[in-house]
Amino acid sequence: MLMKKYHLFINGEWAKAKHYNPLFSPYSKELIAEIPSATVEEVNSAIEAAYKARTIMSEMPSHKRAKILENLAGLFEAHFDQAAEILSLEAAKPLKTAKGEVARTIQTYKFAAEEAKRISGETIPLDAAPGGEGRFAYTVKEPLGVIGAITPFNFPMNLVAHKVGPAIAAGNTVVLKPAGQTPISAYFLAELMQKAGLPPGALNVVTGSGPVIGEKLISDDRVKKITFTGSPEVGIGIRNKAGLKHVTLELGSNAALIVDKNIDIDKIIKRCVEGAFSYQGQVCISLQRIYVHKDSYTSFVEKFVKAAQQLKAGDPLNPDTDVSALINPKEVERTLEWISEAKQNGAIVAAGGASEGNILLPTVLLGVNPASKVSCQEVFAPIVLINKVNCVEEAIDFVNDSRYGLQAGIYTDNIHTALQASKKLHVGGVLINDIPTFRVDHMPYGGVKESGIGREGIKYAIEEMTELKLVIFNNND
Ligand code: SIN
Repeated sequence: MLMKKYHLFINGEWAKAKHYNPLFSPYSKELIAEIPSATVEEVNSAIEAAYKARTIMSEMPSHKRAKILENLAGLFEAHFDQAAEILSLEAAKPLKTAKGEVARTIQTYKFAAEEAKRISGETIPLDAAPGGEGRFAYTVKEPLGVIGAITPFNFPMNLVAHKVGPAIAAGNTVVLKPAGQTPISAYFLAELMQKAGLPPGALNVVTGSGPVIGEKLISDDRVKKITFTGSPEVGIGIRNKAGLKHVTLELGSNAALIVDKNIDIDKIIKRCVEGAFSYQGQVCISLQRIYVHKDSYTSFVEKFVKAAQQLKAGDPLNPDTDVSALINPKEVERTLEWISEAKQNGAIVAAGGASEGNILLPTVLLGVNPASKVSCQEVFAPIVLINKVNCVEEAIDFVNDSRYGLQAGIYTDNIHTALQASKKLHVGGVLINDIPTFRVDHMPYGGVKESGIGREGIKYAIEEMTELKLVIFNNND
């Protein structure tokens, strides 16, 4: 792919910016693009364009909004390999994982197209209250207007789709600020959206400094909602400044899995290894903590470590690569420090624990003290801990002893244990007989505690991107 200079995407046009920054590959460290760094004035133009386009979008019939999203899904299908290569290049996402993300992105826009046609209100029996007789009421869901979407580097296409898809489906307009390391995917989306028939101004893409763009989006009254995926620190900052703006926050986790006794370990190892190391663990629901019943512990560890050591580390563009570079060299330093702290607290390194260039080798830690950062913070790297527990109840306590609560999994052959776990686990989603890393794109997705507020998953995101209006007819004389 040739090195390219990108421009801001404002009001359906490619706008030259005042400043540009170089973008480097996280794996090869080569220059891959020049990316605009928007000023406050340029962000203001993007907001103005979105604000002006809000009427055309809110008045557009839902079948037309659906058609644009269907066209977009078709364009992603037509450019499937190019999209996957962009992800590999800018995010160091191994090509096979990148192809998985593009396939999911297509699904997400298809779900958005379908949901665009299903946005509806309800009739309200007003005569249920004395004094309400003779009145007929119904609700409609109206778009909010301009939505500020701030997205992370780890799923530069699909997590953008989870914000842009429902926003457009519901008749909103968007100012998108993608992560600094992964702007190419967002500009690629803008290109496809233009071809899909989206009116000018309905999607604007501005790249550059998080604080500059974020502050403007949060403080501008024309922006009615901020939807953010990223760290709790930034998310809580947004919430504190947002005033009456709607806010959805998806903020990550230290996702855990419980493995009960009597489980056929051979059947679940491949899935657990995928959950821990897919995209180098840079996934909010990556499997970070595994609590295994003492009867199965030794066998689980032996098989898991063997499978982890077979993963192929290398160039993300090589179709055989399983694990590639972390998003930047600082992350390699940080994670090596966290491993070293865990070791000082008594953990044993059963696999990995070292880096090769910007690649942190898949790392398995045993007997980790819960106070170690690799256990109690979000590790966002290919590091997993496996600890022994005496019973499921003890494991549930460990899982819940966390600032986060996004998703958790349990493998058990006991229905009573499964039901108890589903009740007691304090998370947004419980996976019975699966890893916490499972996600398909129409399910409700979001967390409790510091994992965030609100839910994504197209239908649920649309709920949060529309406002209920009540209409009452008085039929009394
Ligand atoms: C995330 O990292 O928040 C998203 C995970 C996914 O969509 O699979």
